Amino acid sequence: MERTFLAIKPDGVQRGLVGEIIRRFETKGFTLVGLKLINVSKELAEQHYDVHRERPFFAGLVEFITSGPVVAMVWQGEGVVASARKIIGATNPLTSEPGTIRGDFGINIGRNLIHGSDAIETAQREIKLWFKDEELVSWTPHLAPWLK
Ligand code: TYD
Repeated sequence: MERTFLAIKPDGVQRGLVGEIIRRFETKGFTLVGLKLINVSKELAEQHYDVHRERPFFAGLVEFITSGPVVAMVWQGEGVVASARKIIGATNPLTSEPGTIRGDFGINIGRNLIHGSDAIETAQREIKLWFKDEELVSWTPHLAPWLK
């Protein structure tokens, strides 16, 4: 079953949006299979954002993501990678659609509340980077028959 990696960034945690953000993926119908609150090391932050290493915003991005606790999560479900990106909204919250997490709560590209893997292969890499196998819980929600 498809999985994605999501992380509520330090601004989301500081602003008390953890519950609100998790609720959106829960009520959509995706299954939470991994969850932890962590202080991100510089090494992990740099590995996570490796593709942006040469970009001018890289140092600031690493500094921000290591500045306070982050809620790291793995969510599972059919089409979850692309769907989570839609729920999150466009990178710049000033142009994200209302109804998305970034569109509803953010105004600053450097403080856009949440990360979500951008492709299935990226999700696999990020899940490995952030979680040990034993930290992921396989379980089956007891769904009504018409939801199965
Ligand atoms: P990116 O992977 O392009 O966006 P997304 O998080 O939507 O997948 O960029 C990673 C993060 O880098 C982004 O969430 C915020 C930050 N960033 C900036 O601070 N300035 C920028 O110009 C860009 C493109 C990204």
